[in-house]
Amino acid sequence: MPESLTVLGIESSCDETAVAILRSAGEEKAPEILSSVISSQIAIHRQHGGVVPELASRNHSADLPGIIRTACREAGTAAADIDVFGATGGPGLVAALLVGNSTAKALALAAGRPFVSVNHLEGHLLSPFLKRPGGPVPHLGMVVSGGHTLFVDVRGVGDYRLLGRSLDDAAGEAFDKVGKMLGLPYPGGPVIDRLAKEGNPKAFRLAHPHVDGYDYSFSGLKTSFLYMLRDAVADDPDFIERNKADLCASLQGTIVEILLDKLVRASKDTGIRDIAIAGGVSANSGLRNGIVEQGLKRGWRTFLPEFKFTTDNAAMIAMAGYYHYQHGDFSSLDVSPVARLEEL
Ligand code: KG4
Ligand code: ZN
Repeated sequence: MPESLTVLGIESSCDETAVAILRSAGEEKAPEILSSVISSQIAIHRQHGGVVPELASRNHSADLPGIIRTACREAGTAAADIDVFGATGGPGLVAALLVGNSTAKALALAAGRPFVSVNHLEGHLLSPFLKRPGGPVPHLGMVVSGGHTLFVDVRGVGDYRLLGRSLDDAAGEAFDKVGKMLGLPYPGGPVIDRLAKEGNPKAFRLAHPHVDGYDYSFSGLKTSFLYMLRDAVADDPDFIERNKADLCASLQGTIVEILLDKLVRASKDTGIRDIAIAGGVSANSGLRNGIVEQGLKRGWRTFLPEFKFTTDNAAMIAMAGYYHYQHGDFSSLDVSPVARLEEL
């Protein structure tokens, strides 16, 4: 194993085109993130109220070469200095994944270096530990994003036990769909977070699903919200405008309660008190405060990703690629990306 290892990671599973270059200098030190460039297509997709897969792929294809150049320039490296090339292999939009995958494979082929296909969810799961010397610790990890809500017993890098998942909508999807009902721009999550700060989380009582074990469900919450809005707007056409902050605070409060409830239960059952959250929804201020509060009450050690690493980014892909490389776990160049790749 070389003393220092430089990894280039590409993320293109949805509507963010991202490239990061990371350099490790031994296992005890945190890998250094030399560059992490993210180009978001949100403004393009917002006009359509959600992600349009065809547009996402076209934009990844047009933007990626320039983003790679920028990432190399910021890192002070050339493609020839890279030891390993990693790209998200799924889950995600297949045509979008293909762009990042094919590019990373082509670079690996040209440089005669290994290619590593990375599970996007593993990237999120490891993201709270990006800057931790010594890397990830065994913990209970929750990935809450726009596409996934997963709850995992992480025993080590590559050693994962899935404890639970959402049986229907992901937590971020619940934020985004309710955002749409309230007439907020896409994606609704960050806007709801902002508006919720001015509102009362107890103003509206929303349905709490009863789901066994550590699984989640958010579609009942979304439907009960829709019915409540429909009835209220029938009586008062200005209902949403008048109650926007309280509606946002109540929704956010309920989602956070649902998520924390299972986390508290799993921590009690397993005795694990190292807790991490990751994914787009881990940027949510209510969830972050809730985890820290529970942590203080219950003696948890909590790990939260930096804001810039909550939503899709390539630093987390490069990090996971680095660990794959360390384990000698390379991917063949004929591996193709897949939309569903949920087992970690
Ligand atoms: O991890 P991510 O970038 O993409 C997926 O892999 O899905 O997550 C995007 C999701 C969106 O649903 C977005 O609304 C949500 O993360 N999100 C938030 C916040 N910031 C992003 N949800 C609630 N509060 C936020 N502050
Ligand atoms: Zn993601």
